Amino acid sequence: MSANSPAAVVVLAAGGGTRMKSNNLPKVLHEVCGRSLVGHAVAAAEELTPQHLVVVVGHMREKVQEHLAAHHPAARAVVQEEQKGTGHAVRTALEALAADGVELDGTVIVTTGDAPLLTGSTLAALAGAHADQGNGVTVLTAVVPDPFGYGRILRDGADGAVAAIVEEKDASDAQRAIAEINSGVFAFDAKLLAEALSRVTTDNVQGEEYLTDTLEILRTAGHRVGAVVAVDYRDILGINDRVQLAQARRLLNDRLLERAMRAGVTVVDPATTWIDVQVSYEPDAVVLPGTQLQGLTHLGEGCEVGPNSTLKDTRIGAGARVSNTTADRAEVGDFASAGPYAYLRPGAKLARKAKVGTYVEVKNSELGEGAKVPHLSYIGDATIGEGSNIGAASVTVNYDGVNKHRTVIGAHCRTGSDNMFIAPVTVGDGAYTAAGSVIATDVPPGALGVARAQQRNIEGWVERKRSGTASAQAAAAASEGAAEA
Ligand code: UD1
Ligand code: CA
Repeated sequence: MSANSPAAVVVLAAGGGTRMKSNNLPKVLHEVCGRSLVGHAVAAAEELTPQHLVVVVGHMREKVQEHLAAHHPAARAVVQEEQKGTGHAVRTALEALAADGVELDGTVIVTTGDAPLLTGSTLAALAGAHADQGNGVTVLTAVVPDPFGYGRILRDGADGAVAAIVEEKDASDAQRAIAEINSGVFAFDAKLLAEALSRVTTDNVQGEEYLTDTLEILRTAGHRVGAVVAVDYRDILGINDRVQLAQARRLLNDRLLERAMRAGVTVVDPATTWIDVQVSYEPDAVVLPGTQLQGLTHLGEGCEVGPNSTLKDTRIGAGARVSNTTADRAEVGDFASAGPYAYLRPGAKLARKAKVGTYVEVKNSELGEGAKVPHLSYIGDATIGEGSNIGAASVTVNYDGVNKHRTVIGAHCRTGSDNMFIAPVTVGDGAYTAAGSVIATDVPPGALGVARAQQRNIEGWVERKRSGTASAQAAAAASEGAAEA
């Protein structure tokens, strides 16, 4: 906790979000760049290391509470039974803290659960200005191209100080022409906030307790009301519908890609590259077009990923190469490769220089250093030793309909094409297997496992049974040619 960390941050997230038109997902749980909207608000708040972090929940509260408990356990959910306005929401939060014997002293930041572009540094700048100017309240404002729907900032003629905020629905035509709007984010002195909230009425068009009314109340009582104007109005954009959700995702994505590029990652086509907030990378990684980097994915130094790859919670080693690949909770070792057209499922682990080639699916399996599965195969619940090569079109038959079993293939094996490994089964170090084998019993180290029917050729069958066909004519021509030679 830093010396000037706020006493509390209150995130307002109880509203309905009707314009999202969602039957079962609360607005604040919609996702942008790998984090829910409320998750972004909580993450920004956490950067201030507040003594108390409260999220006011209401609409579909069970889902929001569950999400917070799972992903943001530091945040405390406080229920606002009915959504009677932003002022009522903050009052509910303060009352819940007071009921627990918490006496807030210092700054309270109020922010909103639907503004994913708002960063911790913007909140810190607001808190800093609030303290420096000795304000009772400081509002984060922005000058926007289209102020429709927002509360407008009314300033005094004399010194230009903020006098009040008037909501769209309560505003006069002249007030509606004002382009400076309320972001919905504030820094308050804790004691003054509680006092002002107790004096807020529902005397407005919406019949709600407006948090915004506290500014005029504090001003009238002789306290300083300050404002910080956002440098970039897009920082404060609130999400109300899915069009704005997509716009915010695009903006945040652009920022995250810019950060990656400034850190030494080549992004060939930012327009078709998507990256989540928690993705990490090292210099000289190259991301080719059409690639999605999700969750906790990490790109090692000098690796190349894409084109057209989706990597979720996947570790890509230094110098590794992953192309046209879908991977989820997989590990690709240094200088290893996957694709084109590989599917790495949870628990797929490729050691250094291992290779998973074209149309190959790997699940819960380890490939040792330099091991290769180059073509058209399914490797599930298997261990493949270093330097082994698995022939094309092979399958580890891991599922007996009830249980999963492991296939163990040793080091430096050469298994033939079109092998079925009926697990549980082990192929010893240095062993070979013949093409087309169904390997159902263990192959000892250094042995050749052969498990297929002996071939039998029935001479003249086509000419007898398929006479008159092109095949029979070709066969006849071939035997004549052989006779002449
Ligand atoms: C509010 C502000 C407006 C500002 C705008 C910025 C008020 C009265 N108006 O308007 O000046 O320009 O935000 O986006 O404050 N919420 C609750 N409980 C409630 C009501 C709202 O938790 O009872 C939450 C919502 O979930 C949302 C936030 O508070 O996260 C803002 O509420 P919303 O209804 O979106 O307010 P606006 O009408 O947009
Ligand atoms: Ca509203």
